[in-house]
Amino acid sequence: PEAGCLSIVVLGASGDLAKKKTFPALFNLFRQGFLLSNEVHIFGYARTNISTEGLRERLHGYLGKGNEDSTKESDYLSKFLQLIKYVSGSYDSEEGFLLLNKEISEHETSKNSQPGTSRRLFYLALPPSVYRSVCRMIRSYCMNQSDLTGWTRIIVEKPFGKDLSSAEELSAQLGELFDEKQLYRIDHYLGKELVQNLLVLRFANRFFLPLWNRDNIDNVQIVFRENFGTKGRGGYFDEYGIIRDIIQNHLLQVFCLVAMEKPVSLKPEHVRDEKVKVLQSVLPIQPEEVVLGQYDGYKDDPTVSPQSNTPTFATVILRIHNERWEGVPFILKAGKALNSSKAEIRVQFKEVPGDIYKCQKQGRNEFVIRLQPLEAMYMKLTVKKPGLEMSTIQSELDLSYTQRYQDVTIPEAYERLILDTIRGDQQHFVRRDELKAAWEIFTPLLHKIDDGDLKPLLYKPSSRGPPEADQLLAKAGYVQTHGYIWIPPTL
Ligand code: BG6
Repeated sequence: PEAGCLSIVVLGASGDLAKKKTFPALFNLFRQGFLLSNEVHIFGYARTNISTEGLRERLHGYLGKGNEDSTKESDYLSKFLQLIKYVSGSYDSEEGFLLLNKEISEHETSKNSQPGTSRRLFYLALPPSVYRSVCRMIRSYCMNQSDLTGWTRIIVEKPFGKDLSSAEELSAQLGELFDEKQLYRIDHYLGKELVQNLLVLRFANRFFLPLWNRDNIDNVQIVFRENFGTKGRGGYFDEYGIIRDIIQNHLLQVFCLVAMEKPVSLKPEHVRDEKVKVLQSVLPIQPEEVVLGQYDGYKDDPTVSPQSNTPTFATVILRIHNERWEGVPFILKAGKALNSSKAEIRVQFKEVPGDIYKCQKQGRNEFVIRLQPLEAMYMKLTVKKPGLEMSTIQSELDLSYTQRYQDVTIPEAYERLILDTIRGDQQHFVRRDELKAAWEIFTPLLHKIDDGDLKPLLYKPSSRGPPEADQLLAKAGYVQTHGYIWIPPTL
Protein backbone atom coordinates (compact mmCIF):
# COMPACT_ATOMS: atom_id res chain seq x y z
CA PRO A 1 0.00 0.00 0.00
CA GLU A 2 2.88 2.39 0.73
CA ALA A 3 4.57 4.02 -2.18
CA GLY A 4 7.43 6.39 -2.61
CA CYS A 5 11.11 6.25 -2.40
CA LEU A 6 12.61 3.11 -0.88
CA SER A 7 16.29 2.83 0.03
CA ILE A 8 17.59 -0.59 0.93
CA VAL A 9 21.00 -0.54 2.57
CA VAL A 10 22.93 -3.80 2.80
CA LEU A 11 25.60 -3.41 5.45
CA GLY A 12 28.30 -6.01 5.06
CA ALA A 13 27.75 -5.93 1.31
CA SER A 14 30.98 -7.75 0.51
CA GLY A 15 30.35 -10.60 2.95
CA ASP A 16 29.14 -14.13 2.56
CA LEU A 17 25.56 -13.68 3.75
CA ALA A 18 24.99 -10.70 1.47
CA LYS A 19 26.34 -12.66 -1.45
CA LYS A 20 24.49 -15.90 -0.79
CA LYS A 21 21.18 -14.66 0.56
CA THR A 22 20.54 -10.92 0.68
CA PHE A 23 21.39 -9.84 -2.86
CA PRO A 24 19.86 -12.92 -4.51
CA ALA A 25 16.65 -12.30 -2.54
CA LEU A 26 16.59 -8.65 -3.59
CA PHE A 27 17.20 -9.65 -7.18
CA ASN A 28 14.32 -12.12 -7.10
CA LEU A 29 12.01 -9.52 -5.61
CA PHE A 30 13.03 -7.18 -8.39
CA ARG A 31 12.39 -9.78 -11.10
CA GLN A 32 8.94 -10.39 -9.74
CA GLY A 33 8.10 -6.71 -9.75
CA PHE A 34 8.14 -6.11 -6.00
CA LEU A 35 10.96 -3.59 -6.22
CA LEU A 36 10.25 -0.91 -8.77
CA SER A 37 13.06 0.86 -10.59
CA ASN A 38 11.41 4.23 -10.17
CA GLU A 39 11.24 3.94 -6.38
CA VAL A 40 14.05 1.75 -5.20
CA HIS A 41 17.73 2.20 -4.72
CA ILE A 42 20.02 -0.35 -3.11
CA PHE A 43 23.13 0.72 -1.26
CA GLY A 44 25.91 -1.66 -0.40
CA TYR A 45 28.07 -0.59 2.50
CA ALA A 46 31.24 -2.30 3.71
CA ARG A 47 34.85 -1.67 4.56
CA THR A 48 36.23 -3.22 1.39
CA ASN A 49 37.62 -0.57 -0.86
CA ILE A 50 35.86 -1.17 -4.16
CA SER A 51 33.85 1.02 -6.48
CA THR A 52 30.18 0.78 -7.36
CA GLU A 53 31.29 -0.79 -10.62
CA GLY A 54 33.39 -3.26 -8.67
CA LEU A 55 30.43 -4.38 -6.56
CA ARG A 56 28.20 -4.63 -9.62
CA GLU A 57 30.76 -6.81 -11.35
CA ARG A 58 30.99 -9.14 -8.39
CA LEU A 59 27.23 -9.37 -8.13
CA HIS A 60 26.99 -9.97 -11.83
CA GLY A 61 29.32 -12.91 -11.38
CA TYR A 62 27.18 -14.80 -8.92
CA LEU A 63 23.66 -13.60 -9.66
CA GLY A 64 24.06 -14.37 -13.33
CA LYS A 65 25.31 -17.90 -12.81
CA GLY A 66 23.35 -20.54 -14.65
CA ASN A 67 21.42 -18.02 -16.71
CA GLU A 68 24.20 -16.87 -19.01
CA ASP A 69 22.28 -17.87 -22.11
CA SER A 70 19.00 -16.15 -21.41
CA THR A 71 18.79 -12.62 -22.74
CA LYS A 72 15.67 -11.91 -20.71
CA GLU A 73 17.48 -12.84 -17.50
CA SER A 74 20.56 -10.85 -18.34
CA ASP A 75 18.38 -7.90 -19.14
CA TYR A 76 16.74 -8.15 -15.69
CA LEU A 77 20.12 -8.48 -14.10
CA SER A 78 21.61 -5.43 -15.73
CA LYS A 79 18.55 -3.37 -14.78
CA PHE A 80 18.84 -4.63 -11.22
CA LEU A 81 22.54 -3.83 -11.04
CA GLN A 82 21.80 -0.28 -12.15
CA LEU A 83 19.92 0.20 -8.88
CA ILE A 84 22.97 -0.58 -6.80
CA LYS A 85 25.47 1.86 -5.43
CA TYR A 86 28.42 1.09 -3.20
CA VAL A 87 29.61 3.20 -0.29
CA SER A 88 32.79 2.22 1.47
CA GLY A 89 33.43 3.03 5.10
CA SER A 90 34.17 1.50 8.45
CA TYR A 91 31.49 0.35 10.86
CA ASP A 92 32.20 2.97 13.47
CA SER A 93 33.14 6.03 11.47
CA GLU A 94 31.04 9.14 11.28
CA GLU A 95 32.41 9.99 7.85
CA GLY A 96 31.27 6.70 6.39
CA PHE A 97 27.73 7.01 7.67
CA LEU A 98 27.50 10.71 6.86
CA LEU A 99 28.47 9.82 3.32
CA LEU A 100 25.93 7.01 3.28
CA ASN A 101 23.25 9.39 4.47
CA LYS A 102 24.22 11.89 1.82
CA GLU A 103 23.91 9.24 -0.88
CA ILE A 104 20.54 8.09 0.40
CA SER A 105 19.25 11.65 0.65
CA GLU A 106 20.40 12.44 -2.86
CA HIS A 107 18.56 9.45 -4.13
CA GLU A 108 15.45 10.55 -2.25
CA THR A 109 15.69 14.04 -3.69
CA SER A 110 16.19 12.71 -7.18
CA LYS A 111 12.98 10.71 -6.80
CA ASN A 112 11.21 13.88 -5.62
CA SER A 113 10.41 12.32 -2.32
CA GLN A 114 8.65 14.68 0.08
CA PRO A 115 10.54 15.12 3.34
CA GLY A 116 9.31 12.42 5.68
CA THR A 117 8.00 10.11 3.04
CA SER A 118 11.17 8.16 2.53
CA ARG A 119 11.47 4.54 3.51
CA ARG A 120 14.84 3.32 4.70
CA LEU A 121 15.56 -0.33 5.24
CA PHE A 122 18.90 -1.32 6.76
CA TYR A 123 19.92 -4.94 6.45
CA LEU A 124 22.71 -5.87 8.86
CA ALA A 125 24.55 -8.72 7.17
CA LEU A 126 27.33 -8.29 9.71
CA PRO A 127 29.13 -10.06 12.51
CA PRO A 128 27.59 -9.32 15.92
CA SER A 129 30.75 -7.58 17.11
CA VAL A 130 29.82 -4.51 15.06
CA TYR A 131 26.02 -4.47 15.55
CA ARG A 132 26.15 -1.96 18.30
CA SER A 133 28.37 0.60 16.64
CA VAL A 134 26.55 0.26 13.33
CA CYS A 135 23.18 0.77 15.00
CA ARG A 136 24.49 3.84 16.77
CA MET A 137 25.75 5.25 13.51
CA ILE A 138 22.44 4.61 11.77
CA ARG A 139 20.57 6.18 14.65
CA SER A 140 22.82 9.26 14.67
CA TYR A 141 23.27 9.87 10.96
CA CYS A 142 21.00 7.89 8.71
CA MET A 143 17.46 7.98 10.04
CA ASN A 144 14.49 8.90 7.94
CA GLN A 145 13.87 12.52 8.80
CA SER A 146 10.33 12.27 10.10
CA ASP A 147 8.15 9.27 10.75
CA LEU A 148 4.99 10.96 9.66
CA THR A 149 4.67 8.94 6.51
CA GLY A 150 8.01 7.26 6.05
CA TRP A 151 10.00 4.87 8.20
CA THR A 152 13.38 3.42 9.13
CA ARG A 153 13.54 -0.33 9.73
CA ILE A 154 16.47 -2.51 10.71
CA ILE A 155 16.85 -6.19 9.88
CA VAL A 156 19.23 -8.02 12.19
CA GLU A 157 20.53 -11.54 11.81
CA LYS A 158 21.45 -14.06 14.44
CA PRO A 159 23.51 -14.59 16.50
CA PHE A 160 21.55 -12.44 18.91
CA GLY A 161 24.00 -12.95 21.75
CA LYS A 162 25.50 -16.17 23.06
CA ASP A 163 23.36 -16.74 26.12
CA LEU A 164 20.63 -15.08 28.13
CA SER A 165 22.71 -12.29 29.60
CA SER A 166 24.60 -11.34 26.43
CA ALA A 167 21.36 -11.45 24.43
CA GLU A 168 19.61 -9.25 26.94
CA GLU A 169 22.49 -6.83 26.86
CA LEU A 170 22.31 -6.63 23.08
CA SER A 171 18.53 -6.21 23.19
CA ALA A 172 18.88 -3.40 25.70
CA GLN A 173 21.46 -1.65 23.55
CA LEU A 174 19.34 -1.89 20.44
CA GLY A 175 16.26 -1.00 22.46
CA GLU A 176 17.85 2.32 23.42
CA LEU A 177 18.32 3.19 19.79
CA PHE A 178 15.21 1.82 18.10
CA ASP A 179 11.62 1.01 18.94
CA GLU A 180 10.63 -2.64 18.82
CA LYS A 181 8.47 -1.87 15.79
CA GLN A 182 11.56 -0.79 13.87
CA LEU A 183 13.51 -3.97 14.64
CA TYR A 184 13.14 -7.06 12.48
CA ARG A 185 15.05 -9.99 14.00
CA ILE A 186 15.21 -12.41 11.15
CA ASP A 187 15.00 -16.18 11.52
CA HIS A 188 14.88 -17.40 7.97
CA TYR A 189 13.11 -20.63 8.92
CA LEU A 190 10.02 -18.50 9.46
CA GLY A 191 10.11 -17.63 5.78
CA LYS A 192 9.99 -21.21 4.56
CA GLU A 193 6.83 -22.23 2.75
CA LEU A 194 5.89 -25.14 4.94
CA VAL A 195 6.75 -23.32 8.13
CA GLN A 196 4.38 -20.57 7.05
CA ASN A 197 1.81 -23.25 6.42
CA LEU A 198 1.84 -24.60 9.96
CA LEU A 199 -0.75 -22.32 11.50
CA VAL A 200 -3.02 -22.72 8.48
CA LEU A 201 -2.82 -26.48 8.78
CA ARG A 202 -3.48 -26.52 12.46
CA PHE A 203 -6.19 -23.93 12.73
CA ALA A 204 -8.01 -24.03 9.40
CA ASN A 205 -8.63 -27.79 9.36
CA ARG A 206 -11.12 -29.68 11.41
CA PHE A 207 -9.04 -32.85 11.02
CA PHE A 208 -6.29 -31.70 13.28
CA LEU A 209 -8.17 -29.81 15.97
CA PRO A 210 -9.26 -32.75 18.12
CA LEU A 211 -6.08 -34.76 17.53
CA TRP A 212 -3.42 -32.19 18.32
CA ASN A 213 -2.80 -32.97 21.96
CA ARG A 214 -1.44 -35.39 24.56
CA ASP A 215 -4.43 -37.72 24.24
CA ASN A 216 -3.47 -38.65 20.68
CA ILE A 217 0.10 -37.62 20.02
CA ASP A 218 2.87 -39.73 21.49
CA ASN A 219 5.90 -37.68 20.51
CA VAL A 220 7.02 -34.97 18.10
CA GLN A 221 10.36 -34.72 16.34
CA ILE A 222 11.72 -31.60 14.70
CA VAL A 223 14.79 -32.55 12.75
CA PHE A 224 17.45 -30.72 10.77
CA ARG A 225 20.20 -32.63 9.00
CA GLU A 226 22.98 -31.52 6.74
CA ASN A 227 25.25 -33.86 4.84
CA PHE A 228 28.22 -31.51 4.94
CA GLY A 229 30.38 -30.20 7.75
CA THR A 230 31.19 -26.63 8.74
CA LYS A 231 32.77 -25.93 5.34
CA GLY A 232 35.08 -23.00 5.93
CA ARG A 233 32.83 -21.56 8.65
CA GLY A 234 34.68 -23.40 11.41
CA GLY A 235 35.83 -20.21 13.09
CA TYR A 236 32.29 -18.91 13.54
CA PHE A 237 30.82 -22.30 14.25
CA ASP A 238 33.29 -23.30 16.90
CA GLU A 239 32.25 -20.36 19.01
CA TYR A 240 28.55 -21.14 18.69
CA GLY A 241 27.90 -24.82 18.08
CA ILE A 242 24.84 -26.56 16.70
CA ILE A 243 22.48 -25.57 19.53
CA ARG A 244 23.04 -21.84 19.01
CA ASP A 245 23.34 -22.21 15.24
CA ILE A 246 20.17 -24.21 14.57
CA ILE A 247 18.24 -25.46 17.59
CA GLN A 248 17.77 -22.41 19.80
CA ASN A 249 16.46 -20.41 16.84
CA HIS A 250 15.33 -22.30 13.72
CA LEU A 251 14.02 -25.47 15.36
CA LEU A 252 12.61 -23.64 18.33
CA GLN A 253 10.60 -21.36 16.06
CA VAL A 254 9.16 -24.40 14.34
CA PHE A 255 8.48 -25.92 17.75
CA CYS A 256 6.49 -22.81 18.73
CA LEU A 257 4.27 -23.08 15.68
CA VAL A 258 3.64 -26.78 16.27
CA ALA A 259 2.93 -26.45 19.97
CA MET A 260 1.40 -23.00 20.59
CA GLU A 261 -2.27 -22.39 21.31
CA LYS A 262 -4.54 -20.71 18.79
CA PRO A 263 -3.85 -16.97 18.63
CA VAL A 264 -6.73 -14.56 19.15
CA SER A 265 -6.26 -13.41 15.54
CA LEU A 266 -3.58 -13.37 12.89
CA LYS A 267 -2.28 -10.00 14.02
CA PRO A 268 1.49 -10.27 14.48
CA GLU A 269 1.27 -9.42 18.17
CA HIS A 270 -1.37 -12.05 18.81
CA VAL A 271 0.69 -14.73 17.09
CA ARG A 272 3.84 -13.71 18.90
CA ASP A 273 2.04 -13.58 22.26
CA GLU A 274 1.19 -17.27 21.88
CA LYS A 275 4.73 -18.18 20.95
CA VAL A 276 6.06 -16.51 24.05
CA LYS A 277 3.52 -18.37 26.19
CA VAL A 278 4.49 -21.79 24.95
CA LEU A 279 8.18 -21.00 25.34
CA GLN A 280 7.56 -19.93 28.88
CA SER A 281 5.83 -23.25 29.55
CA VAL A 282 8.90 -25.30 28.62
CA LEU A 283 10.40 -27.13 31.59
CA PRO A 284 14.14 -27.01 32.31
CA ILE A 285 16.05 -29.38 30.00
CA GLN A 286 17.27 -32.51 31.76
CA PRO A 287 20.90 -33.45 30.96
CA GLU A 288 19.86 -37.11 30.57
CA GLU A 289 17.55 -36.00 27.78
CA VAL A 290 20.39 -34.57 25.75
CA VAL A 291 22.86 -36.30 23.43
CA LEU A 292 25.67 -34.25 21.93
CA GLY A 293 27.97 -35.26 19.11
CA GLN A 294 30.97 -33.96 17.22
CA TYR A 295 31.91 -35.44 13.88
CA ASP A 296 35.26 -37.02 13.45
CA GLY A 297 37.43 -34.61 11.48
CA TYR A 298 35.74 -31.42 12.73
CA LYS A 299 38.89 -30.38 14.57
CA ASP A 300 41.04 -30.76 11.46
CA ASP A 301 39.82 -27.33 10.40
CA PRO A 302 42.66 -24.95 11.33
CA THR A 303 40.14 -22.33 12.52
CA VAL A 304 38.73 -24.76 15.09
CA SER A 305 40.39 -25.15 18.47
CA PRO A 306 42.16 -28.52 18.81
CA GLN A 307 40.50 -28.90 22.24
CA SER A 308 37.07 -27.90 20.96
CA ASN A 309 34.13 -29.17 22.98
CA THR A 310 31.65 -27.70 20.50
CA PRO A 311 28.80 -29.99 19.43
CA THR A 312 28.08 -30.34 15.71
CA PHE A 313 25.13 -32.60 16.54
CA ALA A 314 22.55 -32.48 19.30
CA THR A 315 19.34 -34.16 20.28
CA VAL A 316 17.49 -32.28 22.99
CA ILE A 317 14.10 -33.17 24.43
CA LEU A 318 11.79 -30.33 25.41
CA ARG A 319 8.80 -30.89 27.65
CA ILE A 320 5.92 -28.51 27.95
CA HIS A 321 4.10 -28.01 31.19
CA ASN A 322 0.58 -27.29 30.06
CA GLU A 323 -2.78 -28.97 29.60
CA ARG A 324 -2.27 -29.81 25.95
CA TRP A 325 1.22 -31.28 26.06
CA GLU A 326 2.08 -32.61 29.51
CA GLY A 327 4.04 -35.84 29.00
CA VAL A 328 4.67 -35.44 25.26
CA PRO A 329 8.36 -35.23 24.37
CA PHE A 330 9.34 -32.73 21.69
CA ILE A 331 12.56 -34.06 20.30
CA LEU A 332 14.70 -31.40 18.63
CA LYS A 333 17.55 -32.83 16.64
CA ALA A 334 20.15 -31.13 14.44
CA GLY A 335 23.42 -32.24 12.98
CA LYS A 336 26.12 -31.41 10.49
CA ALA A 337 28.04 -33.98 8.43
CA LEU A 338 25.25 -36.55 8.59
CA ASN A 339 24.13 -39.04 5.96
CA SER A 340 21.46 -36.80 4.41
CA SER A 341 20.24 -33.21 4.16
CA LYS A 342 16.68 -32.54 5.18
CA ALA A 343 14.45 -30.76 7.63
CA GLU A 344 11.17 -32.21 8.79
CA ILE A 345 8.57 -32.36 11.51
CA ARG A 346 7.39 -35.82 12.47
CA VAL A 347 4.30 -36.08 14.63
CA GLN A 348 3.87 -39.63 15.88
CA PHE A 349 0.47 -40.73 17.13
CA LYS A 350 -0.26 -43.20 19.89
CA GLU A 351 -1.26 -46.80 19.30
CA VAL A 352 -4.88 -47.66 18.51
CA PRO A 353 -6.44 -48.81 21.77
CA GLY A 354 -7.52 -52.49 21.70
CA ASP A 355 -5.93 -52.86 18.29
CA ILE A 356 -7.03 -56.07 16.54
CA TYR A 357 -4.46 -55.57 13.77
CA LYS A 358 -1.56 -54.91 16.07
CA CYS A 359 0.47 -58.04 15.30
CA GLN A 360 0.43 -57.34 11.55
CA LYS A 361 1.32 -53.67 11.64
CA GLN A 362 4.56 -52.03 10.62
CA GLY A 363 4.23 -48.88 12.64
CA ARG A 364 2.17 -46.08 14.07
CA ASN A 365 0.36 -43.26 12.34
CA GLU A 366 2.64 -40.37 11.63
CA PHE A 367 2.07 -36.99 10.16
CA VAL A 368 5.25 -35.78 8.49
CA ILE A 369 5.87 -32.27 7.26
CA ARG A 370 8.91 -32.16 5.03
CA LEU A 371 10.22 -28.61 5.12
CA GLN A 372 13.03 -29.27 2.66
CA PRO A 373 14.11 -30.47 0.21
CA LEU A 374 11.02 -31.47 -1.82
CA GLU A 375 8.37 -29.79 0.27
CA ALA A 376 5.66 -32.24 1.18
CA MET A 377 3.36 -33.42 3.88
CA TYR A 378 2.23 -36.98 4.22
CA MET A 379 0.23 -39.03 6.66
CA LYS A 380 1.47 -42.50 7.25
CA LEU A 381 -1.36 -44.86 7.80
CA THR A 382 -2.20 -48.55 7.78
CA VAL A 383 -4.33 -49.84 4.93
CA LYS A 384 -5.27 -53.23 3.59
CA LYS A 385 -2.58 -54.50 1.31
CA PRO A 386 -4.18 -54.51 -2.14
CA GLY A 387 -4.78 -58.02 -3.38
CA LEU A 388 -6.50 -61.24 -2.44
CA GLU A 389 -4.83 -61.69 0.92
CA MET A 390 -6.15 -59.91 3.95
CA SER A 391 -3.04 -58.29 5.31
CA THR A 392 -2.10 -54.74 6.19
CA ILE A 393 0.53 -52.41 4.91
CA GLN A 394 1.82 -48.98 5.79
CA SER A 395 0.97 -46.40 3.15
CA GLU A 396 0.48 -42.66 2.97
CA LEU A 397 -1.77 -39.80 2.01
CA ASP A 398 0.71 -37.61 0.26
CA LEU A 399 0.66 -33.94 -0.63
CA SER A 400 3.90 -33.35 -2.46
CA TYR A 401 4.31 -29.81 -3.65
CA THR A 402 6.31 -30.51 -6.79
CA GLN A 403 3.48 -32.70 -7.99
CA ARG A 404 0.45 -30.82 -6.71
CA TYR A 405 1.68 -27.30 -7.45
CA GLN A 406 3.65 -27.86 -10.61
CA ASP A 407 3.58 -24.30 -11.87
CA VAL A 408 4.43 -22.63 -8.62
CA THR A 409 7.93 -21.56 -7.75
CA ILE A 410 8.34 -21.62 -4.03
CA PRO A 411 9.95 -18.38 -2.92
CA GLU A 412 13.17 -18.28 -0.98
CA ALA A 413 12.73 -17.59 2.71
CA TYR A 414 14.74 -14.38 2.52
CA GLU A 415 12.63 -12.95 -0.28
CA ARG A 416 9.49 -13.31 1.70
CA LEU A 417 10.95 -11.88 4.86
CA ILE A 418 12.46 -8.85 3.17
CA LEU A 419 9.11 -8.20 1.52
CA ASP A 420 7.39 -8.48 4.92
CA THR A 421 9.80 -5.90 6.28
CA ILE A 422 9.04 -3.50 3.46
CA ARG A 423 5.35 -4.02 4.18
CA GLY A 424 5.81 -3.59 7.92
CA ASP A 425 4.57 -7.04 8.91
CA GLN A 426 6.43 -8.38 11.93
CA GLN A 427 4.55 -11.66 12.33
CA HIS A 428 7.43 -13.76 11.02
CA PHE A 429 10.11 -12.00 13.03
CA VAL A 430 11.31 -12.67 16.54
CA ARG A 431 10.08 -10.30 19.24
CA ARG A 432 12.35 -9.27 22.07
CA ASP A 433 10.50 -11.20 24.79
CA GLU A 434 10.37 -14.25 22.55
CA LEU A 435 14.13 -14.15 22.14
CA LYS A 436 14.55 -13.86 25.88
CA ALA A 437 12.30 -16.85 26.51
CA ALA A 438 14.25 -18.86 23.92
CA TRP A 439 17.54 -18.12 25.63
CA GLU A 440 16.08 -18.95 29.03
CA ILE A 441 15.40 -22.47 27.80
CA PHE A 442 18.87 -23.19 26.45
CA THR A 443 21.26 -21.10 28.55
CA PRO A 444 21.76 -23.56 31.46
CA LEU A 445 22.54 -26.37 29.00
CA LEU A 446 24.85 -24.16 26.94
CA HIS A 447 26.75 -23.10 30.03
CA LYS A 448 27.26 -26.75 30.97
CA ILE A 449 28.72 -27.42 27.53
CA ASP A 450 30.87 -24.28 27.57
CA ASP A 451 32.23 -25.29 30.97
CA GLY A 452 33.08 -28.76 29.65
CA ASP A 453 30.62 -30.52 32.01
CA LEU A 454 28.85 -32.08 29.04
CA LYS A 455 30.91 -33.54 26.26
CA PRO A 456 30.00 -34.42 22.69
CA LEU A 457 30.38 -38.02 21.54
CA LEU A 458 32.45 -38.60 18.45
CA TYR A 459 30.48 -39.74 15.39
CA LYS A 460 31.46 -40.77 11.92
CA PRO A 461 30.85 -38.22 9.17
CA SER A 462 28.06 -39.32 6.82
CA SER A 463 26.39 -41.38 9.55
CA ARG A 464 23.14 -40.90 11.51
CA GLY A 465 25.10 -39.25 14.32
CA PRO A 466 25.92 -40.94 17.62
CA PRO A 467 23.88 -44.15 18.15
CA GLU A 468 23.10 -42.86 21.65
CA ALA A 469 20.78 -40.33 20.02
CA ASP A 470 18.65 -43.12 18.55
CA GLN A 471 18.60 -44.81 21.93
CA LEU A 472 17.35 -41.59 23.50
CA LEU A 473 14.61 -41.38 20.87
CA ALA A 474 13.48 -44.92 21.67
CA LYS A 475 13.54 -44.14 25.37
CA ALA A 476 11.37 -41.10 24.78
CA GLY A 477 8.78 -43.35 23.14
CA TYR A 478 9.45 -42.97 19.44
CA VAL A 479 8.74 -46.17 17.57
CA GLN A 480 10.49 -46.53 14.27
CA THR A 481 8.49 -47.88 11.35
CA HIS A 482 10.06 -50.95 9.82
CA GLY A 483 10.00 -51.86 6.18
CA TYR A 484 8.54 -48.59 4.94
CA ILE A 485 10.23 -45.73 3.18
CA TRP A 486 8.43 -42.70 1.86
CA ILE A 487 9.27 -42.19 -1.78
CA PRO A 488 8.65 -38.70 -3.10
CA PRO A 489 6.43 -38.99 -6.19
CA THR A 490 8.07 -38.27 -9.50
CA LEU A 491 6.38 -36.19 -12.13
C1 BG6 B 1 21.94 -21.02 9.08
C2 BG6 B 1 23.04 -21.73 9.83
O1 BG6 B 1 21.24 -20.18 9.94
O2 BG6 B 1 21.07 -22.00 8.54
C3 BG6 B 1 23.77 -22.70 8.93
O3 BG6 B 1 23.94 -20.77 10.35
C4 BG6 B 1 22.81 -23.62 8.23
O4 BG6 B 1 24.72 -23.44 9.67
C5 BG6 B 1 21.67 -22.86 7.60
O5 BG6 B 1 23.52 -24.33 7.25
C6 BG6 B 1 20.60 -23.80 7.09
O6 BG6 B 1 19.65 -23.09 6.37
P1 BG6 B 1 18.80 -23.80 5.24
O7 BG6 B 1 17.84 -22.78 4.80
O8 BG6 B 1 19.79 -24.21 4.18
O9 BG6 B 1 18.17 -24.99 5.89
